[in-house]
Amino acid sequence: MAASDFGALRIAPSILSADFGDLGSAIGLISSQVEWLHVDVMDGHFVPNITIGPPVVKSLRQHSDLFFDCHLMISEPWRYLEDFKKAGADSCTFHVEVGRTAETIQLARDLGMRVGLSLNPDKSFALVEPFLSQIDVLLVMSVFPGFGGQSFIPEVLETVEKARAVVVRDGLNLDIEIDGGIDVTTAPLAVKAGANVLVAGNAIFGKSDPAAALRDLQATVASL
Ligand code: DX5
Ligand code: ZN
Repeated sequence: MAASDFGALRIAPSILSADFGDLGSAIGLISSQVEWLHVDVMDGHFVPNITIGPPVVKSLRQHSDLFFDCHLMISEPWRYLEDFKKAGADSCTFHVEVGRTAETIQLARDLGMRVGLSLNPDKSFALVEPFLSQIDVLLVMSVFPGFGGQSFIPEVLETVEKARAVVVRDGLNLDIEIDGGIDVTTAPLAVKAGANVLVAGNAIFGKSDPAAALRDLQATVASL
């Protein structure tokens, strides 16, 4: 899918809380309501959990035209970017904590992907600030990555505010995405701080009616 406009306020459902035995159906439940799908990739090394890799992304691509926003919670993203691209990823976000940041951004660019940089809740904004003009998405983690259904860490709103201030000051084309513990209570806090892409897993796929839960979340942020 083509890259969409920067700065649009959107919910990106995370399939982490969906039924991994029937992901195609899970995506079908919400696909008419969104443009982005957040795909959580975990390697059991950078985070203490293992999820999916390029083969699953490739299969999901057969079921969906959504923008695949792949969040690589892995130690060596540079080894796998090409595989994700070939599998159908539109964007790959990797973590600043793993190092080789400038080089990995360039690699993603050379592959023609949108590129995102993420930081964990305990990390300083100063770590990502030098790269903001080179990336498309800043993904601020509002939980420690690894599992869905955790509680939102409000202290990260300060990072979101700092990032939004730089975007406004420098006129950057940058999406500010927040990930972890987003629901109808926390989403307004994130938007007010300056986030425009809200990842939500448990608040959508953890509910008996994911489409209705997504509509509630969208209505909540649209009414701000
Ligand atoms: C956490 C993942 C998140 C996760 C969010 O490690 O990166 O994308 O799916 O899930 P919730 O919305 O349940 O906190
Ligand atoms: Zn994620």
